[in-house]
Amino acid sequence: MSALWDQDPDEFWTREGRARVDWFTPFHTLREWDPPYAKWYLGGRLNACYNCVDRHVEAGHGERVAYHWEGEPVGDRLALTYAELQRRVVRFTNTLKKLGVGRGTNVAIYLGMVPELPIAMLACARLGAPHTVVFGGFSADALASRIDDMGCQVLVTQDEAWRRGRTVPLKAVADKAMAAAPGVRRCVVVRRTDGPVSMTPGRDVWYHEASAHVDEDPANCPCEPLDAEALLFLMYTSGTTAKPKGIVHTTAGYLVGVATTHRYVFDLQPDTVYWCAADIGWITGHSYIVYGPLCNGVTSVLYEGTPDFPDRDRWWDIVERHGVTVLYTAPTAIRTHMKWGPEFAARHDLSSIRLLGSVGEPINPEAWSWYRTHIGAGRAPVVDTWWQTETGMIMISPLPGSGTLKPGSVGRPFVGVEAATLDSQGRPVANGQLVLDRPWPAMLRGIHGDPQRYVDTYWSKYPGHYLTGDGARIDEDGDFWLLGRLDDVMNVSGHRISTIEVESALVDDRSVAEAAVCARPDPRTGQAIVAYVTLKGGREGSPDAVDELRQHVADKIGKLAVPANIVFTPELPKTRSGKIMRRLLRDIASEGSLGDTTTLADPSVVEEIRARAAASV
Ligand code: PRX
Repeated sequence: MSALWDQDPDEFWTREGRARVDWFTPFHTLREWDPPYAKWYLGGRLNACYNCVDRHVEAGHGERVAYHWEGEPVGDRLALTYAELQRRVVRFTNTLKKLGVGRGTNVAIYLGMVPELPIAMLACARLGAPHTVVFGGFSADALASRIDDMGCQVLVTQDEAWRRGRTVPLKAVADKAMAAAPGVRRCVVVRRTDGPVSMTPGRDVWYHEASAHVDEDPANCPCEPLDAEALLFLMYTSGTTAKPKGIVHTTAGYLVGVATTHRYVFDLQPDTVYWCAADIGWITGHSYIVYGPLCNGVTSVLYEGTPDFPDRDRWWDIVERHGVTVLYTAPTAIRTHMKWGPEFAARHDLSSIRLLGSVGEPINPEAWSWYRTHIGAGRAPVVDTWWQTETGMIMISPLPGSGTLKPGSVGRPFVGVEAATLDSQGRPVANGQLVLDRPWPAMLRGIHGDPQRYVDTYWSKYPGHYLTGDGARIDEDGDFWLLGRLDDVMNVSGHRISTIEVESALVDDRSVAEAAVCARPDPRTGQAIVAYVTLKGGREGSPDAVDELRQHVADKIGKLAVPANIVFTPELPKTRSGKIMRRLLRDIASEGSLGDTTTLADPSVVEEIRARAAASV
């Protein structure tokens, strides 16, 4: 494989651009780089849906399974071939067309892991209608702000989602969101549980009704030939302010980037059965459940439920039944399985597994070794892949078969990726801020509606270098070791959450005067959220106040952002100029040494908070 790394990046991406994707019009120029803006595959016209679906059927692979879908209720399953996927995508596309969706109509998708989720995304791509998928765990407020920011006219949701045998009322949340974001003209509701929903006449339609007499013939529903740089989707992610950023991904560079990395990093073979156990609501699912694997014509598993329903061996049952050869998941999931013990995996024959992947947060060597030993039979390589919503594709990762794997290291930058670590002066050092120096095909094209924020966030600290926000170390062999975020972004169970976003949600509660949020290490979730809160009028905290604040954060953002600990304090530690000393709060939360406290306005505050933190729940 080292031959891959030795290639000239421009030749490599030109060749991959031709090999991974079919073009309606070939590109004439590989790249245009006008920092900080890149364009790729200029002059090319293509369609992502065509590349992910139709062309495989046209090539005679219609009977190949695209997704082995496993519903949460045991036995609720479906083998969706590429031909069947095509029929369903065409049906969805024609239904959206009936509702007035066409090229340039923005569509929000708020679905659980049902087959209609990738189908809806592909239908949008077929039409040239950009989508934004909002993770089903986000609240009505979070959904509304995304709908509003993107200007979505149509929302696709479902009655309810299954979660550990219970139902989550997605349509009811969507109703609240639509009340706050009145731009939505039409709402398409997929029936999943048949639970109670309220339908607003003229706006809401059941998908099964609206699609009942719709044509399924692909010949009558061509894929729109789109410009290489046509907007494919926005993915909202947390930054260092309260407002999530709509990360812009366009068609050609993104598709080539994810298909290429998927192929090489996961060492695809004709018999590969691939399972990325993420949620499509995050970038990992977009790139490595939907666009990458389908573009490569691979057979994947798509699973609706959680790892512990109905029992803790559910994943391993799925692996055994489908003969999964490649499994891609997050360290937090691995640590959870580790905590449950290896006996659940041992109940099943996992001998089909040949390669294991990890993503989303630093993987500790213990989890890496457990994964390899108990899931990979002590022989499957573990590839730890580093990337971000913004990078769109895997950027740093070992390639299977390319040398020794080091537990905890993400290996080397992918072909054509130039990564460096810089000190505060911008000088290359062995341990510093991770930056990327050369444009790559799937890189973000900006932040929706906010070009200045794009420049400020990524390109202003070190002009000419893309700032990742992560710290990293490069060892003597040139292998990278990720050290976590250096900014105000937390990583809880691989979910990216901004401290400021949680602070704003807390301060929004009428009882709160002031709040400061930071992360502490957590053995299972990587990090956990700690909130320091001062109540109005000198009120003391109480268990009721804790519940109220947790609920408020769940309403404003979603359960994933709810603090694990809430520490009530009459005062927050501040500098003499009135700035909250977050570093100090982090130290208290992590029970580390406190470092320099000489700039504190009132040093006694710290001891008080420390005592309260120790007693917090
Ligand atoms: O801090 C890094 C961490 O996750 C951040 C990106 O989060 P998000 O945009 O939500 O995308 C997650 C899935 C690609 C990064 O800035 N991160 C991601 N992968 C790794 C990682 N940290 C260490 N090792 C990884 N393999």
